[in-house]
Amino acid sequence: MKIQSVHALQIFDSRGHPTVEAIVELENGVRGRGLVPSGASTGSHEAIELRDGDPARFRGKSVFRAVAHVDGEIARAVVGRDAFDQAAIDDRLVRLDGTSDKSRLGANALLGVSMAVAQATAAARAVPLYESLGGGAGTLLPLPEIQIFGGGKHAHGRIDIQDFMVMALRARTYEEALEVTFNVYHAAADVMRGRGGLAGVADEGGYWPNFDRNEDVFEALLAAIVQAGYTPGREVGLSLDIAATDLFREGHYELGREKRRFTSEQFSALLLGWMEKYPIVSIEDPMAEDDWDGWRRMNVAIGRRCQLIGDDHFTTNLARIDRGIAAGTANAVLIKLNQIGTVTETLRAIRRTQAAGWLPVVSARSGETEDAFIAHLAVATNAGQLKVGSFSRSERMAKWNEVLRIHQHLGARARFVGAGIFSEHGITLPSR
Ligand code: PGA
Ligand code: ZN
Repeated sequence: MKIQSVHALQIFDSRGHPTVEAIVELENGVRGRGLVPSGASTGSHEAIELRDGDPARFRGKSVFRAVAHVDGEIARAVVGRDAFDQAAIDDRLVRLDGTSDKSRLGANALLGVSMAVAQATAAARAVPLYESLGGGAGTLLPLPEIQIFGGGKHAHGRIDIQDFMVMALRARTYEEALEVTFNVYHAAADVMRGRGGLAGVADEGGYWPNFDRNEDVFEALLAAIVQAGYTPGREVGLSLDIAATDLFREGHYELGREKRRFTSEQFSALLLGWMEKYPIVSIEDPMAEDDWDGWRRMNVAIGRRCQLIGDDHFTTNLARIDRGIAAGTANAVLIKLNQIGTVTETLRAIRRTQAAGWLPVVSARSGETEDAFIAHLAVATNAGQLKVGSFSRSERMAKWNEVLRIHQHLGARARFVGAGIFSEHGITLPSR
């Protein structure tokens, strides 16, 4: 099925910042669209999101050049090609750009088109995206990793640690996992209200972190879990994204709120202390993106007791994932489409992660749209985990809701192993 036309427009993401929407039309008139997300705590090895940089327009954030690249060069390169050969189209896009970081045409331009091609082919096959992307092999519904408090760059540094999340460890279905999260999320509001600290939500829908110390957040989170009727570490585990690259300055890790400064060794010791004290089942970016020694040290110290996820550390980049696998720096990889810039490269990153016996965690960005592509990506690849931010704001709920629809569509073919994904991969959470 040939591509008939490709075009793009500037739309706005969940922060109200400009982003790219690409639309691909096939020769039979069927269309697909791709809406590109955008990060705030980005890794320096990510593919480049092209922004115009004109202070007179949208504070320099407009994406009119990326849109023009879609309408011009990119359209000319892919019109007439077979949409069903996603890999060939994506390889063509990568070669057309010609840079290692997609900075010429922009990863936002390339990804919008790549996602739109995937959506158009699913529509042409008259099947949901997960089925089209996964060739019918995707049946595993993901365990949600859901933010309760959002800090770091998503809350103007109001607290240092970026994501305080929960995972429903004993949920037997995806729906039950959402119910557990619902209970904890709303109990957390009650806890914050009780402390006089309820002040709205941060970028990903988690409560605004009105706290003085990072450890205060743990206490509030544990209180919310208990108030919701659960035992921390039994039904509900804690999951952290330290986003440590943002805390790393001139060779040291800094907790700005507490005015404390750490060497790499000291910082990993602090985190390991938290892991002793709190029921943490997953930790992401505990070390800065290029602190490879720190990463190795953390991985050795944690052993197989906890999921250790690289986000800024890997940036969904095959070369970095390979290096991490060889060096033993983690046991899981955060997967974000726009870190690498095409659907095919993202699928390859997931497959490489899985082939190493590691866990892929499909993830949204802090700047999101109503596009629920990643819900389909998680199921299509049997990734087993999905991280979308919190349990509020429609750009987040669009993804959680889409998995509910996928469950309906899969019917009896749907599988859910929940936290069983950890033991299946040799990660044994301490029993509580
Ligand atoms: P970002 O945050 O989208 O701002 O990078 C998400 C994350 O760090 O996981
Ligand atoms: Zn992260």
